[in-house]
Amino acid sequence: MATCSPRVMISDDEPGCDLDLFCIPHHYAADLERVFIPHGLIVDRTKRLAQDVMKEMGGHHIIALCVFKMGYKFFADLLDYIKVLNRNSDRSIPMTVDFIRLKSYCNDQSTKDLKVIGGDDLSTLTRKNVLIVEDILDTGKTTQTLLSLVKQYNPKMVKIASLLVKRTSQSVGYRPGFVGFEILDNFVIGYTLDYNTSGI
Ligand code: HPA
Ligand code: MG
Repeated sequence: MATCSPRVMISDDEPGCDLDLFCIPHHYAADLERVFIPHGLIVDRTKRLAQDVMKEMGGHHIIALCVFKMGYKFFADLLDYIKVLNRNSDRSIPMTVDFIRLKSYCNDQSTKDLKVIGGDDLSTLTRKNVLIVEDILDTGKTTQTLLSLVKQYNPKMVKIASLLVKRTSQSVGYRPGFVGFEILDNFVIGYTLDYNTSGI
């Protein structure tokens, strides 16, 4: 059975906050209904995730993989907090970052294949502690496929950090090692999450 990582739960009946309580960028205010996670809470939670990452992965060279292009702010902030902890540690470790994009397609057997675009050769992941950073996990299918792909390169350890996990009946049940918040299955924007898509 999948174990649940600690996360801040935003429950289904969470009313959120009125938009008038915050400074909302004018150009997308009309598309918003409520504020569920104020920025300060994201900052505080991300600092704690950085601490958890260092505790579990900080014994060896970390390669942080950013899955572009959404959610780069979470990646940048998480890495900044990890770097501060690493710099101030007696046992600081090498850290490198890489950026990839994913393209899914169906092969002849109609099973999902995943193509990694950009980034260094994945063989650089061998014997490293690989931290894959995601913005949102909904079904978890793509992430699970990426995980098995990365494992083929024999990393010492591989973990996923996701800012958000959605509660959805479509989930394959995959739970990342590090989760910021669990949210209801609504379309969410802000903090560099994708906005101009057909999902709105
Ligand atoms: N917001 C932005 N991008 C997304 C979402 C969402 O709620 N779900 C999947 N991609
Ligand atoms: Mg993503």
